[in-house]
Amino acid sequence: MKKIITIFGSTGNLMYKKLLPALNTLIRNNYLTKDTEIYLIARKDYFLDDYIAEAKKEMTSDIEWDLVKPFLNYINMDISNINDYIKLKEIINKNGDALDKMFYLAVPPQLFPVIAKGISESGLITKTDEFARIVFEKPFGEDLKSAKEINTKLWQYFEEKQIYRIDHYLGKEMIQNVLVVRFSNIIFENNWDHNSIKNIIILAKEKEGIFNRGNYYDKVGALKDMVQSHLMQMVALITMEKPNSFTSDEIKDEKVKAIKSLRIEKENIILGQYEGYKNVKNVDFESNTETFVYAKAYIDNDRWRGVPIHLITGKQLDEKRSEIIINFKHTDKHFKSSKQNKLVIKVAPIEGVNFIINVKEAGLNEKIVPATLDYCHSCEVIGNTPEAYEKLLLDLSNQQNSLFTRWDEIETSWKIIDDLKKQEITPIIYKNYQELKTKILKVSEDLEYDL
Ligand SMILES: NC(=O)c1ccc[n+]([C@@H]2O[C@H](COP(=O)([O-])OP(=O)(O)OC[C@H]3O[C@@H](n4cnc5c(N)ncnc54)[C@H](OP(=O)(O)O)[C@@H]3O)[C@@H](O)[C@H]2O)c1
Repeated sequence: MKKIITIFGSTGNLMYKKLLPALNTLIRNNYLTKDTEIYLIARKDYFLDDYIAEAKKEMTSDIEWDLVKPFLNYINMDISNINDYIKLKEIINKNGDALDKMFYLAVPPQLFPVIAKGISESGLITKTDEFARIVFEKPFGEDLKSAKEINTKLWQYFEEKQIYRIDHYLGKEMIQNVLVVRFSNIIFENNWDHNSIKNIIILAKEKEGIFNRGNYYDKVGALKDMVQSHLMQMVALITMEKPNSFTSDEIKDEKVKAIKSLRIEKENIILGQYEGYKNVKNVDFESNTETFVYAKAYIDNDRWRGVPIHLITGKQLDEKRSEIIINFKHTDKHFKSSKQNKLVIKVAPIEGVNFIINVKEAGLNEKIVPATLDYCHSCEVIGNTPEAYEKLLLDLSNQQNSLFTRWDEIETSWKIIDDLKKQEITPIIYKNYQELKTKILKVSEDLEYDL
């Protein structure tokens, strides 16, 4: 069956940085066959060669244009004009009705409703189209109210199974690995609760600031940009109960239940803003937007009662590191010098799993020392492991929706973020990560290291 991929926002940063390189990889590896047609939609009045010339200027990675160009078509459109959607439909259907069709909205979220309306009213997608899907980038809304408004409109036009909401963290190799590590290793599955686990740390630290994205970032901040989506997804995967089966819907049911039980008290939150943030272009000179979040959360259920989950994310910190760290409790009082076991799932930039155990030091003494069992995920693949967007585009192409977020996941996490926002916590200004670390350690006596 002929496959149609249509991307709105083809002149944007996401397209140049992620989507075009991912499409290139899928084409090179024959995941997209020759009968695939890719339609690049944007408002600039270009021919395809103009678009490619512009893309070459904007892109940092090399594209194999000889390979990719035969798949591409460029179409300029006014997204508020229904006639332009009707023309697009005629082009797509020029050789008979296209059935397998994907519409990817790589545009600011405020444009989601107008494009969705055009796609629906022109008949590009009808609710009965079995092989049609429409893809929305994050953030999905700015708060619960706006997310609900967008979603209500989408449900007027499309069936839930046609809607794919992206959280690109779910496409990362090691995030996909979380459930495998948890549920396919009996040593973890049987010890995954408050009896064995002391605390959980979920980190997503970035070294860089916000570059020139003041327009976007200053309205959003770290809570909405990172916690509502990526960190909540990580919490859900780590704390959810085992589903009856590992189908997409049963996994999502359990994730939603876990997030619904999440609690964060005001006194357990630290917000920060890096020094110099207010001088970035398009940032309000009196901005109170947070670029750093620390939150100590608890899951109120039998499995997790009393286990702190430390969430840490921010910009302009000491390093780029995204990890999930499970600190187990001390086991045996007889071995006082032993350390607690620790499982580290490394998400980025290094991908892998470390498990730290206690062993006797080599030699004649009886000293106990920690030893690391180190699995390097990236080393298993020649070259690089797949990029998140490669996996997500491939799943989209194959109508696999398990790595995309369902509406109730988004709704539940927005409720938490809205509640935190209501607290109106003023961010502290930080010069470096060390200052934040000192403050975090005051709130969290059980955190000795790992930050
Ligand atoms: N960039 C990333 O790394 C990244 C990561 C995760 C998620 N996202 C999400 O992906 C989406 C796109 O992000 P982006 O960084 O690519 O944004 P961007 O660079 O601002 O580009 C957005 C695209 O939307 C088009 N557009 C903007 N306003 C329009 C309008 N009124 N009518 C028609 N087209 C319009 C732009 O066309 P013109 O060129 O004509 O302005 C451009 O093609 C956003 O929802 C963002 O949150 C981005």
